[in-house]
Amino acid sequence: MWRGLCVVCCCFVLISCGEEAAEVSAPPGPTPLPAFEELPVQEAPPALLEMLDGRAVESAAQWASERRPEVIRILEHYAYGEAPASEGIAAEVVAEYDDFLNGLGVLRLVRLRYGPDLAGEAEVLVALPKARSGPVPVFLGLNFFGNQATTTDPRVPLTARWVPGRIVGVEGNRALEASRGAVAERWPYEEVLRRGFGLVTVYHGDFDPDRDEDSDGVQALYRAPGAARGPHEWGTVAAWAWGLSRVVDYLVTDPDVDGARIAVVGHSRNGKAALLASALDERIALVISNMSGCMGAAIHRRRQGETIAAINLFFPHWFALELRRFDELEERLPFDQHFLIALSAPRPVLIASGADDGWADPEGEFEGARGASVVYALLGSEGLGAERWPEVNALVETRLGYHVRPGGHGIGPEDWAVFLRFAERHLR
Ligand code: GCU
Repeated sequence: MWRGLCVVCCCFVLISCGEEAAEVSAPPGPTPLPAFEELPVQEAPPALLEMLDGRAVESAAQWASERRPEVIRILEHYAYGEAPASEGIAAEVVAEYDDFLNGLGVLRLVRLRYGPDLAGEAEVLVALPKARSGPVPVFLGLNFFGNQATTTDPRVPLTARWVPGRIVGVEGNRALEASRGAVAERWPYEEVLRRGFGLVTVYHGDFDPDRDEDSDGVQALYRAPGAARGPHEWGTVAAWAWGLSRVVDYLVTDPDVDGARIAVVGHSRNGKAALLASALDERIALVISNMSGCMGAAIHRRRQGETIAAINLFFPHWFALELRRFDELEERLPFDQHFLIALSAPRPVLIASGADDGWADPEGEFEGARGASVVYALLGSEGLGAERWPEVNALVETRLGYHVRPGGHGIGPEDWAVFLRFAERHLR
C-alpha cells in the first residue's frame, strides 16, 4: 500500500528556466567564493552580517535574499559539501500497530525510497500518541545503530545494514537480536508520547553508513560510476542532513503529523547533522542539537577540544575534502559555527551541552549560539538570553536557547526533560 506520495520533480526544469531568465535581465550574480589561498587570516570569528563583498547586511529582506544564500554557499563549499536537490520520495506504510507501549501509542513502520530512480531505501519508525485529537507535533532524530536499538518492541525489524560494532548485539557489523533496545535510554518514547508528541527515528546508515567508504551511501547514487570523490562533494554529515529532509518530505504528508511542528533533534554527530538539516530546510520548525561539538555548535577559533585536524583524521568521510585544507588553520576559515546556527533563525534552536564534555567544548557551543544571536535580532526575533556561559541546569529558555547539564557526553531522560520543556514552550 504505497501511500500516494510522489513528489517527482520539475526542479531541473525550473532551474534551467531561471538561468535563461537571468541571461536576459543579467542581475549581478553572487560573489565568487575565494580560493583557499586567497582567504584572509581572521583571528576572530567572521562577521555574520557582512557580505563577502564587504557590504553590511542591514535588513531582514537582505538576510533572506542575499546573505542567507551566501552563508549556505560558504558552508557547503568549504565544509559540508554540496547536496543535490532531491528527485522526490515514495513512502509506503509497511506495518502499523495500535498497541505500542501497552496501548499508549501507535507504531507505524514506513519504508521510504529516495534518490535517483528511488534507488535508496530507509526504514522510518513513527511512534504517535494514541490519544490525540488531531495532528501532533513530532520530534525527528537520526539514530546510530538501527531502529531496533532504540526500543525493546520486538516488531521493529533489525536493520540489515552495516552498523558500527560499539554496542552489544552487533557482530561483524551486523545487528543481531541482542542489539534490540541497546540504546533505549536515549529514546524515551513513553514520556514523549505522554506529553503529546510523536517520536520519529531513522538509522543514519540508511542514508550513509558511518565508515570511510565512498562506494556506499546516498552520495554513491549521485556520483558517476568510477568517478572519484570531488573536493566539494557532500560528506556523510551532509548526507545525514539530506536524509532528515527526506523524512520531513514524508512527515508533511502524514495526516497524523502536524507538518508545521516538526522538531529535529540530534546527539553528537547526529547533532551536527540536525543543525545542518535545519539550516538548509526551513520546514523544520525547531532544532535541538545536543553536544554537537566540532562542526556542530562549537566555535573552532577557541581551539578547545576536538579540532578540524582531529575530526578530519578520525572521520575522513564526514565532510567535504576541502575542509582538510583548514587543518591547524582555523584562522583561515571564512566562517565559524555561529554561521551554521544562524541559518535556522528566527526558528527556535536549543544548543545543549554537558559540563564535562570537553571534547565537544561546551563553552564553545554556548559561544556558537551567542554569535548567531545577531541574526535573530536583525529578524526582529528573540536571540540568546544570556551573555555569559550559564550555570549548569539553568535553561536559557529564549527562542535561541542554551542549556548545560552536569556530566559528560551522552543523552538520556534528563536531557529529554529539557528538550520537552523547550519544545512545549516554543512549538505549541
Ligand atoms: C567522536 C567525534 C565527535 C562526535 C562524537 C559522537 O567523539 O570526535 O565529533 O560528535 O564522536 O558522535 O559521539
